[in-house]
Formats: sequence, C-alpha cells, structure tokens
Amino acid sequence: MVTVNGQFPGPRIEAREGDQVVVKVVNHVQNNITIHWHGIRQLGSGWADGPAYITQCPIQTGQSYVYNFTIVGQRGTLWWHAHHSWLRATVYGPLIILPKRGVPYPFPKPYKEVPILFGEWFNEDPEAVIVQSLQTGGGPNVSEAYTINGLPGPLYNCSAQDTFKLKVKPGKTYLLRLINAALNADLFFSVANHSMTVVETDASYAKPFETDTILIGPGETTNVLLRTKPGSPNATFFMAARPYNTGLGTIDNTTVAGLLEYTSTSPSSMKNLPLLKPTLPAINDTAAAANFSTKLRSLATLQFRASVPQTVDRRFYFTVGLGTRPCPKNQTCQGPNGTKFAASVNNVSFVLPSMALLQAHYLGQSDGVYTTDFPNNPPFPFNYTGTPPNNTFVTNGTKVVVLPFDTNVELVMQDTSIQGAESHPLHLHGHNFYIVGQGFGNYDPVNDPAKFNLVDPIERNTAGVPSGGWVAIRFRADNPGVWLMHCHFDVHLSWGLTMAWVVNDGALPGQKLPPPPSNLPKC
Ligand code: C2O
Repeated sequence: MVTVNGQFPGPRIEAREGDQVVVKVVNHVQNNITIHWHGIRQLGSGWADGPAYITQCPIQTGQSYVYNFTIVGQRGTLWWHAHHSWLRATVYGPLIILPKRGVPYPFPKPYKEVPILFGEWFNEDPEAVIVQSLQTGGGPNVSEAYTINGLPGPLYNCSAQDTFKLKVKPGKTYLLRLINAALNADLFFSVANHSMTVVETDASYAKPFETDTILIGPGETTNVLLRTKPGSPNATFFMAARPYNTGLGTIDNTTVAGLLEYTSTSPSSMKNLPLLKPTLPAINDTAAAANFSTKLRSLATLQFRASVPQTVDRRFYFTVGLGTRPCPKNQTCQGPNGTKFAASVNNVSFVLPSMALLQAHYLGQSDGVYTTDFPNNPPFPFNYTGTPPNNTFVTNGTKVVVLPFDTNVELVMQDTSIQGAESHPLHLHGHNFYIVGQGFGNYDPVNDPAKFNLVDPIERNTAGVPSGGWVAIRFRADNPGVWLMHCHFDVHLSWGLTMAWVVNDGALPGQKLPPPPSNLPKC
C-alpha cells in the first residue's frame, strides 16, 4: 500500500492559526501523486492546493514538490490527503490547527484531544478497483471494511486484535476530532451510553448542541466534546460507525467499532459491566441524517462572526448526480442498460485536462485546456424527484465558471435522483461557504429563498446535497486562483461529478495570484 513516511494513517500535522506550513513531498512510489490540504483556504497560495491537473501537475516518481502555505483565519480540525486517482484510500492524515497562543476555545478546555479518522479498507489495491470500474463502466467493487484510525475492530472476522482503544478517565471532557476519510461512504457514528456535544465542523465553530449520533460525510470534519461518566466503574463501551446510503448501488454495509475503556484508579469501584453496543440508525434513515444536519449553526458570536454574504452578485443552479455514457462499440459495459456509469454537474461530466488549469489560467493560455462556458443552469429541466428522463447521457467537457474577484455567489445544488436518490458531499476548494438553506423535493426559487438563514448558518467546506433534495450555499469569491468543486465520494469524482471556478485577480496588490513556485511539477 502507498503510505506517507511508512505510516497508516499518515503523520499528524499540528500547527497554529497564523503559522506558515512547509511540507516537502518526495515521491518514492510508481504512481503519480499530489497532496491536498483539505479545507485550508490557501489565501494567496493557490499553487499549494494540490488537486492533480487543477492547481498542479502530479509529482512523478522520483520527483518532489514543496507545499508552502500560511494558515489565515482558521483553527480547528482539517486533514490532508492524496488528490490523484484513488490514492487517498491510504494516503491521508489529520491536519490540526490550534488557536493562536493564548487564545482559548469558545468551550471548556478539554482534558485531552483525540483525532479519530474513519477510513475505508480494500483488500484489493484501490487503484485496481477504480481502473476496473472505469474500464467496465460498472460500479466499483465495494470495500471490505471501515476503519477507525486505520483499525477495523472486533466486528470483522480476525481483526479483533486490530481495534482502536481510547483509554479514558471518569468525569473528564475529551475533544474528539472526527474526520471522515472514507472513499465512498457517509457515516453515522455514536458511542454507547454517551452523548456528544458538537462544537465545530470543518474548522469553523458551531453553536454547541448535544446528540447521540453524528452524521459525517467524506471530507467532512466534526469536533465533539465527550464527557465521561463520573466515578465510573471499570467499564468498556463500543464506539461504532456504519454507512448512511439511499442509492441503488451496492455499498459496503458493515460496521467498524472501537472501544472506550475507562481506567479506574480505585479498584473498589471495579464492576464488570457487559460491553455495551451503540444503537446506530438504519442505513437508509434519511430522517436521522436530516435531523443531524439541520441542527448545525455557526457559533456566530462577536468574536467568531458569521460573515454571510447578505447580497448576491451571481446566482447559479446546479444539478448534481449520476448519468451514463454510451458503451464503446465491440465492448460490453456493466452500467445501466449496457451503458457506462458517469456523473455530472449540470449534465457536464468533467474531463481532466493534460495540463494544470491554474497554470493555463496564470499564463493566459486556456486554449485546448479548458473552456469558460460552464452552464449556469441545467440544460434539461425536469422533475428531479420524479421519473428520470429517458436519455441520461452526459456531455463531456473541461468547463469552468469565471468569477471576478469578490463576487458574492449563491449556488443551489439539486440532487437529480437519477440512478436512485443519493446524498452527495460537495466539497469546494479554497473557500468556506455558508449553508443558507436545504430541503427535500425540487428547489422552489419562489418560496424557498424566503426561508434562508442569513444570520447563523453553518460554515463549511463540504455540504451534503440531501438525497432527493437540494442545498443552497453562499460564498464570497475572495481567493484568486482555480478551485475545484466536486463530490467527495471518490467514485463520483472519478466519474466526472466535478467542475472548477476561476477566481480572477483583484485590483489591489494583496488580491493577486502570486507567480508559481520554481519547483512546480511539470506535466
Ligand atoms: Cu478533500 Cu478535492 O478534496
């Protein structure tokens, strides 16, 4: 397996708000690779963002690249991962940003902080899984297990010795830094007999609320406080995660578990309690999923303001979902009705260029690399929660939207429900956005905007487009560069559910994309 420094999950990067982070990546494997710093704004450092063929060409075998960026105005839990093909299956790790020295959290200081990374384990080489899916046109083989900090745990055959164990003391508060690094699954997570208090998502503080179950999509991060029971016996509790999925495709429907082990100091309080399992929602429990995601709010205090754009310069309506492409002659394809699976935004299935978009943009040489005619609206309006159209063929293209610096954008994303309604975790690079509205059914441009929350909507870098529904986001395009936006299910990304925004330079000196670093990899 491909790893960083021989570690799985990869090494933890810890920094403080305001720090400059410099990481030299040397490629010792046969694959091309890049690393993405998921959720880092990359203000003025667009060349360090990392998606292959978007902000850089891949680092080839034997080559290296130095990622160099400063963390501006962010603190919390983020992560890093490979951003080429499916290498992120094993190449990922936590990126933890502490507040500036002397600045407290807006919640009680935790006794301990624990990163918890959910992953997805394939017995096969994940690269072979996606290559086969793309060749046959069918859905990829599903994974064998989910993992917690790289360990599958006791509910799978033969892996009880590979169990994540968190030893805790009674009556203390633990900050769990949850990261969903799974390739293709939204996950429910809970800890038996314990509730959790959500305090942050995607490195933005949230209004605290208590919950038994967390929903976390791939790419997303969530900080929760877990208060251990006072004067507790020597008890052990399961923590567990399993998928949330409503699509028609097959998915790994297994459960990963770890253990919360109380260490008691006084032997007299020792009691042998049965190992308690948490109750997790059913795999298709959309009500439980919505119950969690609609509770999220920005902290929105004087110190941590929610700077939601109150006015909008450009409005977009994107449909996101699956589609198909014709099977090449003399081939049999395993997609629906003998076609190949594809995925698209506004029916455009993204084709990776052969040169990095950011380079082409910087040099003013977009010819033959990308076009600027990405549609603002879906080309074939239909009832997105009713019967799908007969022809679900996508069009191919490397199309972008160009935004002037500081454009306030409102974007509504509608799940097409083609091939079964499925939630899509849409991730935007280089920006955070506010989720101002969400709902089920078809988005109603007349009545829904009246219900938008422009006061304390949650701030994120990844938004779940609800299964059979829509989500509305707002962001200020204040970061010059080229920024990918895509479904964080790797299979959908590979099938083309992605597009890119080009944010032009502003007029002032601090509002310009700097020249590329001298060691930027060449294609
Ligand atoms: Cu975490 Cu473009 O991805």
